[in-house]
Amino acid sequence: MVGKINGNFIGKDIISLDQFSPKDLKILFHHTLKMKKIASTASASKILSGNIVTLLFYEPSSRTFGSFSAAIKQLGGQTIEIINPQKFSSVAKGETFEDTIRVFEAYSDTIVLRHPQVGSAQKAADAAFFVPIISAGDGIGEHPTQALLDLYTIYEKFKRLDNLKFLFAGDILYGRTVHSLLRGLSLFKNNAVFLLSPKQLKLSRKDLEYFSKKINLIEIDKEKGVPKNADVWYWTRIQKERFGNKSLYLKVKNKYILTPKLVNKYAGRNTLIMHPLPRINEIEKDVDDDPRAVYLRSQIRNGMYVRMALLGLVLGKI
Ligand code: CP
Repeated sequence: MVGKINGNFIGKDIISLDQFSPKDLKILFHHTLKMKKIASTASASKILSGNIVTLLFYEPSSRTFGSFSAAIKQLGGQTIEIINPQKFSSVAKGETFEDTIRVFEAYSDTIVLRHPQVGSAQKAADAAFFVPIISAGDGIGEHPTQALLDLYTIYEKFKRLDNLKFLFAGDILYGRTVHSLLRGLSLFKNNAVFLLSPKQLKLSRKDLEYFSKKINLIEIDKEKGVPKNADVWYWTRIQKERFGNKSLYLKVKNKYILTPKLVNKYAGRNTLIMHPLPRINEIEKDVDDDPRAVYLRSQIRNGMYVRMALLGLVLGKI
């Protein structure tokens, strides 16, 4: 079981949104705003001067890798960047996962890890003796830093994280961003989440039972079930790489496409339209110009600001 943050981020592994309380998010968001100022004024910060962070990515990434790398450099720190260690590190020669973690903890002050297996971030945290592990996504498990930036983006718009109505659409079963965001939203009162997905990609029954104790979830599989004027739409990709059965993927991949017509019919004037990205074809390009759509605007930028704040806090520099 991972340790709660409990107001003190220093040296903590970041594995799950379950570690956070509303107070922890308040601390993080307070520093995120400061980081936004540092990044947007191109000030030369020395907050992470002397720190080295390893980015160890066993799965592909654009945003998480790029924003962590930029976040560290924005704060004057340095990186060891290992992309595809299965090919470009001694993992290719048969080095164990635990040994790889022990090696890179010897060279750096924290390890940011993305890995295809659920539980890999915790396994890394158990293997590391000296440095914290920050999960950048463990298979279909969780993606905690994505949820932190998503929550910040929602908070920035509404100035609250309670009493909100959400529509999540796409891959609810395998979507790690959804799993972490549901945990985050469960920390606050009176949130309701409509889950629009094909029957085959509904939340697992175990997760549905778990989350339903904390938050109001409404499962739907047809467009006509979409609520009018939800505060947030959170669209997700149907993830080809998570399907053993490719014919099932082909059957569900184009099930829910976000179009201007759908937005006009169901969204409200202030609905925030989000997507963790990458998108394939589940959002039509014409939606991009809608001022309510933030997935190519603040949502990706906030990823860097939130990760700057998180690194500063975990490394005890702010
Ligand atoms: N949102 C997200 O995790 O994107 P990447 O896979 O590109 O990092």
